[in-house]
Amino acid sequence: MTKGIIISGGWGTRLRPLTCTIPKSLIPIGNKPVLERQILLLKSAGVTDITLAVSVMAEVLKNYFKDGKDLGVNIRYTDEKNPMGTAGAIKLAEDHIQDDNFFMLNGDVILNFDFKQMLKAHEKSKGMGLISGRTVEDPSRYGVLIVEETSNKIIKFLEKDEYNPPEGNYNPMPVNAGVYLLEPDVFDYIETGKKVSIEKDVFPKLASEGVLYYYPISGIWKDIGKPEELLEGNILLMKDILRGLESSTKNLIGDNLDVEGKVIFHPPVTIGENVTIRSNCEIGPNVIIGNNVYIGENTKITETLIYNDAYISKDVNIDKTIVSDNCLIQDGVELKGKDRNLVILASYVEVSKNVCLNAPSNSSLTICHHETVRQDFGDI
Ligand code: GDD
Ligand code: MG
Repeated sequence: MTKGIIISGGWGTRLRPLTCTIPKSLIPIGNKPVLERQILLLKSAGVTDITLAVSVMAEVLKNYFKDGKDLGVNIRYTDEKNPMGTAGAIKLAEDHIQDDNFFMLNGDVILNFDFKQMLKAHEKSKGMGLISGRTVEDPSRYGVLIVEETSNKIIKFLEKDEYNPPEGNYNPMPVNAGVYLLEPDVFDYIETGKKVSIEKDVFPKLASEGVLYYYPISGIWKDIGKPEELLEGNILLMKDILRGLESSTKNLIGDNLDVEGKVIFHPPVTIGENVTIRSNCEIGPNVIIGNNVYIGENTKITETLIYNDAYISKDVNIDKTIVSDNCLIQDGVELKGKDRNLVILASYVEVSKNVCLNAPSNSSLTICHHETVRQDFGDI
């Protein structure tokens, strides 16, 4: 029976300070952690025996998913004291998953596709591994795949710092999407007890032996490695879910929405459960709000991700911002990102009355968890 293993033990450094309090794979994507969405996708393909290869903040992940019963799957955990690398992490689960082929997923990619189709493609290819990928305009921050067109065989696998583009110019090409279907023989290529990278130490070897095949991934795909990608990924998934609905639903609204007076929603908008919105607010487009959020009157929010348990007071203006869990935004505050540079508030941030935070034009403006901001910042 095909099993699943999801690696979710990295530090998530590029998302700091968002990942100082929450592991990357628990960050909400449309009100569900990215990892939970992956588990549900695996389950819909009949894969219910799932190992989570955890390391950094392992206890937080274990507390959230427990034995998987609530999601209708069986979840086990590896015991990885320090990050052992992407291959070292799965080696720790060898005894459990070595009896059949298995899906391996990077725990930080947003997906919405049918794993059964991938299984069929793997059975047809008869390789040791099927690597899913996607052609992107700028492959510089991904593992690059050199694919033989007629056979779909991957002849070279080059991790991001190993690929030198011709004359320094990156052209669109297939990159590694972080979703694999592997035969247990791959364990023979991973040394026990060592930090081993699947991208640098294993796949290049397998590619040179001609046993890796390419699978162009369908549907949406987004690595949430950086804050702007996290916001873009949320918007992408929201639009994808709405497209998949048969009705003409324009917004995704959770249970117990309490709206007082006139509130305008500019679609698409996602609202979680137990959200209160007071009169004269304008929400959207491209806004994702979590559970247990309060929004006071005359507040305007566009292109923004708000996690759970945030309190946003009245007369607030928010654009291109990430507001993490338990933030408190006082009256008259203005939070404004600029293009792909966002305002980013980590967990438990408080922004005092009438403060303006504007992202500069060359970087995001980031506030660390538990800080109270009492004065204006950025390009005002
Ligand atoms: N358990 C464990 N132990 N997990 C790890 C470790 C580790 O030592 N190191 C990384 N991970 C997990 C991370 O938590 C994440 O879910 C996943 O492995 C990928 O790590 P990232 O740090 O996010 O890598 P990346 O995004 O730079 O590159 C990877 O993903 C790209 C696609 O999104 C590579 O696989 C690239 O080749 C690929 O293109
Ligand atoms: Mg990543």
